[in-house]
Amino acid sequence: MLVILGASGDLARRKLVPSMYEMARRGLLPKQTVILGVSRTEKSDEQWRAELKPWVADHAVDFDEAAWNDLAQRIHYHAGDAAASAVYPSLEQRLGALAQQHGTRGNLLFYLSVAPELYEPIVSRIDEAGLVTEGRRWCSVDPSSRSWQRIIVEKPFGSDDESAASLNRALGRVFDEEAIYRIDHYLGKEVVQGLLALRFANAVFEPVWNQQYIDHVQISASETVGVGQRTAFYDSTGAIRDMIQSHLLQILAFVAMEPPTTFNAVHIRSEKVKVVDAIEPPPIDRLAEFGALGQYGADAKEPPYHESKGVPAGSTTETFAAMKVVFDNWRWSRTPFYLRTGKKMAAKRTEVVIQFRHPPANLFRDVAPVPPEANRMIIEIAPRERFRLRFVGKVPGQGIRLAPIEMTMDYQEQFDEEPIEAYGPLIIDAMRGDQSLYKHRLEVEGAWRCVMPFLGDSSKPLRRGIHANYAPGSWGPASADALLARDGRVWHNPTPTPSPAPRSPAPTP
Ligand code: BG6
Repeated sequence: MLVILGASGDLARRKLVPSMYEMARRGLLPKQTVILGVSRTEKSDEQWRAELKPWVADHAVDFDEAAWNDLAQRIHYHAGDAAASAVYPSLEQRLGALAQQHGTRGNLLFYLSVAPELYEPIVSRIDEAGLVTEGRRWCSVDPSSRSWQRIIVEKPFGSDDESAASLNRALGRVFDEEAIYRIDHYLGKEVVQGLLALRFANAVFEPVWNQQYIDHVQISASETVGVGQRTAFYDSTGAIRDMIQSHLLQILAFVAMEPPTTFNAVHIRSEKVKVVDAIEPPPIDRLAEFGALGQYGADAKEPPYHESKGVPAGSTTETFAAMKVVFDNWRWSRTPFYLRTGKKMAAKRTEVVIQFRHPPANLFRDVAPVPPEANRMIIEIAPRERFRLRFVGKVPGQGIRLAPIEMTMDYQEQFDEEPIEAYGPLIIDAMRGDQSLYKHRLEVEGAWRCVMPFLGDSSKPLRRGIHANYAPGSWGPASADALLARDGRVWHNPTPTPSPAPRSPAPTP
């Protein structure tokens, strides 16, 4: 049974229930799965189902009334405050009654979809109510019980290194690490998982996947939308916490990790922990050489971020962040990774750019210039899902002219699969007990350590002059360009795929 705590929230109706419907429609949701929403507002099962239906229909790739009706009769609602003890006796009864009604074994997958400050109190209440009977370190497991209890925890997972460690301790007092699922929806994205296949199912890329052949790596997640109605959440969060600490460092780990011994959760996650641990902290007195922060200015429709409704006057919360990550390990010691993310940027695009080094000798130096933007692999994660390998080729015709050319693998063209919302497969993984695409306690704590130097209030030098320092629709503040320029590099700002260079005119006989 999936127990969504915080069922009236946006996440439940926009993502969780629609993704469960999608999985059910495709026949991928176990038939006996029951969904129980828990939230404070009083409403009946029928009312909640009626509320959810338009959201599901809106988000569905293909809305099938029969598939919805079939799932809807397994969707239930229980009113109560999950952070207070009072609701637990009736909740426990309800869980038992639903298990009986639907003939389930009574497995419980809690989904914490509430405000982060409620995570710890709710976990304690679940514990006090005795709902966790298996997966507790100090409890002997009742051999007659075949059911399990697990918990999915949404981001933000803490707001700094200390709060994340405290949350990990609180969860660890109730659930084993094997029962804790720290979700990051970027790990549900097809191409992020595809990175592991690209790297480790082929022999051709791995030999060059290191500091000897890769000059640098860029990981960008740009969005065209602003903060919108989420100012209260966003202003206390900012781009570093919202995107870099979680999503971008997860992508980085998949790009940079060593090959795991086998493709299982224990091995994959321990390699991710190691690579995040190998990130060198930036020297605190030279932070401007390692990071750039920005805030969008006004556009035709909205004021600048710092004057937006709901944003405290003078706020220095960043809506853009760029960071240079340096490793102290054998594979990457000379190869910086540049991360960047922002709201109201020129394009919605999540991608990884692997920039290979130039060949050791330039054979063509007296003949033709070598296009600098080649020798590059562009891994597009969203909105298109593509691998593009851009290299230098000779333009057909007499004499030597060089041009960048591309080989592209587009997932949709190649596999003809409907795209699937990341949450669905991830939740099913948690039901199956597969943690490969969930974050380990140590990964989360390591990621916090990497970003801590860049957090802080307006007294931080990086936040000086942040107000409206980039125009909506641009690629971010000038300081982000300077971050790369200092190293003699430039950001890969998506441009249309280069068209083939024209052939040289045929030689006259
Ligand atoms: C969320 C952030 O985790 O990811 C949002 O809180 C952001 O601010 C979103 O917009 C981006 O996700 P996606 O899948 O659209 O790239």
